[in-house]
Amino acid sequence: MSELKQETRRPVVTLDGPAGSGKSTTAKEVARRLGFRHLDSGGLYRALTLALLEEGVPREEWPDLTEDGMRALPVHVASEGSEFVIEVGGRPMKSELRTPEVTANVAFLASLPASRACLLGLQRAAGEQGSLVADGRDMGSVVFPGAEVKVYLVADLTERARRRLKEGGGSDPADDEVEREAGVIAERDRQDSERELSPLRKPEDAHLIDTTRLDFVEQVKAIVALVEAQGTE
Ligand code: C5P
Repeated sequence: MSELKQETRRPVVTLDGPAGSGKSTTAKEVARRLGFRHLDSGGLYRALTLALLEEGVPREEWPDLTEDGMRALPVHVASEGSEFVIEVGGRPMKSELRTPEVTANVAFLASLPASRACLLGLQRAAGEQGSLVADGRDMGSVVFPGAEVKVYLVADLTERARRRLKEGGGSDPADDEVEREAGVIAERDRQDSERELSPLRKPEDAHLIDTTRLDFVEQVKAIVALVEAQGTE
């Protein structure tokens, strides 16, 4: 009797974890190494936040917005090679999404049901064909519960604060700067973990990787190895 060949789709890989654990840079490099696409879901929440700030909608009115209201904001995602380019008001965004003002407001926006509903379909559509590395807070738990490989990245709070401050090639930050940044990160983690919808949690079936003492190349290698081992177990 001939063996039935199972259709194998190329995997979806999820990387979740707290703020500053290095998810996005790691996910981007893992995707590059595997020839997959990379979805930075935090960038989508940041783009909705920036659009609301630019439109001058007062923060206390954000909870009144419906899913359609969120969808009507001038945020668009275009697929460009292996990346998704996020546009706000027709302009492609990069560092504009990471300003202190956006960072200070994004966890509030992300706690609102309308924002999560608005982005769910878009994120799932990005993973439909497989070959995707998606990073965020609820990629493995809610958006792609059936993902073939799930990773949960953690690192010591102080180390995450230090890395954040050194992003973009800065010099070694002073201890009091690190302490201040650690406070900002801890508050965002608290909001992301305590919210009712899609809270930050390690999915039960995720591989836990502590990157505190791993260098970037090692952590990318570890995740690529998990993906390559998948399907051979
Ligand atoms: O990863 P990043 O720091 O860019 O995420 C910004 C914020 O977006 C997070 O603090 C969180 O509030 C929200 N977020 C989320 N769910 C995701 C990704 C990000 O709620 N999947």
